[in-house]
Amino acid sequence: TTFDIVIRNGIIVTATDKYTADIGINGSKIVDIGFDLKGHETIDATGLLVLPGGIDGHCHIEQEEADGTIHEDDFVSATGSALLGGTTTVVCFASHVPGRGLVEQFDAYREKGGNSRIDFAIHQIITRTDEQTIRDEIPVVAERGAAGLKVFMTYDDFHLTDGQFLQVLEAARKSDIIVSVHCENYDAIRHLILQHLAEGRTEPHGHATSRPPAVEREATYRAMTMSELVDQKIQIFHVSCPEVAEEIARAQSRDVKVVAETCPHYLTLTEDDLKRDGFEGTKYICSPPLRTKAAQDGMWQYLRSGVISIISSDHCGYTFDGAVGKGRHGRDADFSLIPNGMPGLGTRLPVFYDAAINGRKIDLTDFVRLTATTPAQRYGLYPEKGTIAPGSDADLVLWDPKKSVTITNALFQSNIDYTPYEGRQVQGWPVKVFQRGVLAMENGTVIAQPGTGRFLRSRRG
Ligand code: URP
Ligand code: ZN
Ligand code: ZN
Ligand code: ZN
Repeated sequence: TTFDIVIRNGIIVTATDKYTADIGINGSKIVDIGFDLKGHETIDATGLLVLPGGIDGHCHIEQEEADGTIHEDDFVSATGSALLGGTTTVVCFASHVPGRGLVEQFDAYREKGGNSRIDFAIHQIITRTDEQTIRDEIPVVAERGAAGLKVFMTYDDFHLTDGQFLQVLEAARKSDIIVSVHCENYDAIRHLILQHLAEGRTEPHGHATSRPPAVEREATYRAMTMSELVDQKIQIFHVSCPEVAEEIARAQSRDVKVVAETCPHYLTLTEDDLKRDGFEGTKYICSPPLRTKAAQDGMWQYLRSGVISIISSDHCGYTFDGAVGKGRHGRDADFSLIPNGMPGLGTRLPVFYDAAINGRKIDLTDFVRLTATTPAQRYGLYPEKGTIAPGSDADLVLWDPKKSVTITNALFQSNIDYTPYEGRQVQGWPVKVFQRGVLAMENGTVIAQPGTGRFLRSRRG
């Protein structure tokens, strides 16, 4: 037989194996893996790694906030930068702002995703626990294929009390849907922020000192306790430091149903970045905050042991100079008024690869497991997504392990006007990306058009 496309002689990496072979693609699917395969079109991948398309399980794209603002990275822009960085699937967030029902917001967000260049799944945020939301609407969004629910234990507009969190967990258990949690102690942060402001400590670094590891560790412990009480699976989002990971390991060892995610920035940036001159430090304001070099070093053992099992970007598109970005309250605003979050969709794989593989922290198979396979499994997208096998979607990244790149924001062609990694040199870069058998990115040029992406309904359970 002659395949539509053959990717020849690349080093194929999955979560379990690494071997050299040819991949035969027909239409949108991988149909064979073998030797000397014949194709109408042949792509020589000699010297390149062939990875499953990256799956970014936590991205804020075109998300509406309670104050009416919309994240400045929209589906077209964000998914272009995703492709430039080797990601072919995003899991992004439908909001739950006041005044409109949950199902209405889920459906409207899915519609917005019609502009996506890559396939997408949806987490549904839950910010209130009225009867309509809990009893009527959570089952409907679960049924419509939401990948998970997200709740916040902090942020003025979002945080749930412990009682409300328990209500969400009960509803999630009935609908068999995972609940991801932003764990920071709301009252403790309020207390520390007020203290900082009273002392005149308004500079960006106050963001880090007003949300110390204990604030995150306590909330994580409390969230896991609730999970244990209800016997409902949760995921701790964006674990920032080993103090928190240690708490998760302890809960896992007594069989609490808890899994965890971290992000490249907690492994590569530190709280010192918040001390950059003037307003520059605000580029590094995210929650939980960046930690110390020692915390970074301590995180790797939890990635190796599987306590933390997913690497996501927590991409959050706030510009440095735009009207609703970091400077929305002026250049002299105190740290508590700066929107939280950093862009990271495009840089997720190159930055993590460089730190993890060139830094000799984990194996290539671990890299694929953390950035593609486990996210696909956790969100009910596997095995169409997240691996390289006959029957899987032909979402493939040809990755040049020798290519050195100095990161600069222009590479990602995004609406966001900065990257926290500006000037960082990394080795290892995606040179070609296929989505469902179609070339979607080549050598820094986005090919996939807006609207080529599809909504992925999560198959849970
Ligand atoms: O600072 C962050 N992480 N912003 C994005 C929203 C969230 O908490 O995930
Ligand atoms: Zn969060
Ligand atoms: Zn987030
Ligand atoms: Zn505001």
